[in-house]
Amino acid sequence: MNPLLKKLQPYPFEKLRALFKGIEPRAGFTPISFGIGEPKHPTPALIRDAVIASLDGLEAVNPATQVLPVSGSREALFALAQKVVDSRGTDAAGPPIVLCPNPFYQIYEGAALLAGAEPYFVNSDPSRNFACDYSVVPDHIWARTQLLYVCSPGNPTGAVLTLDNWRELFALSDSTAS
Ligand SMILES: Cc1ncc(COP(=O)(O)O)c(C=O)c1O
Repeated sequence: MNPLLKKLQPYPFEKLRALFKGIEPRAGFTPISFGIGEPKHPTPALIRDAVIASLDGLEAVNPATQVLPVSGSREALFALAQKVVDSRGTDAAGPPIVLCPNPFYQIYEGAALLAGAEPYFVNSDPSRNFACDYSVVPDHIWARTQLLYVCSPGNPTGAVLTLDNWRELFALSDSTAS
């Protein structure tokens, strides 16, 4: 077995299910679940047709004009880390790092750990309307960073990165890239 599996945390929806155990909605009320985002509507014909037309295989995706459909973004978020992280690390001392916002969607952490990286969490800052302040990340952490997950609008904060925030982020990661 892959020993890195031992580093994974229990899945949060399992914890949530345990917390909900025995809780019943008040009589006469119909609960609206905000618990988990699951598609409730049929897939639009436009998407079905495009998927069916591509069953024979995909050409390389052009990121400027195309979107890659995946079976849930979890799959893509996980697979991306396995592809881009080099677990042998960089020249900078220490194992590779995957930068994640905090709070965060759990797959960032699991993907980082199974790719052989260490997750490093950048806290949402209430004084910035819960945006992360990436300028507080030390240079030695940037030097080991191989992947940065950015979530905009943030979940659960709803914080949206402005164009200036994106520019700052690209400038920060460029200036520390080895
Ligand atoms: C921030 C974030 N990332 C990823 C996911 C996973 O999405 P999917 O159901 O498309 O795999 C969710 C689901 O709620 C999410 O909130």
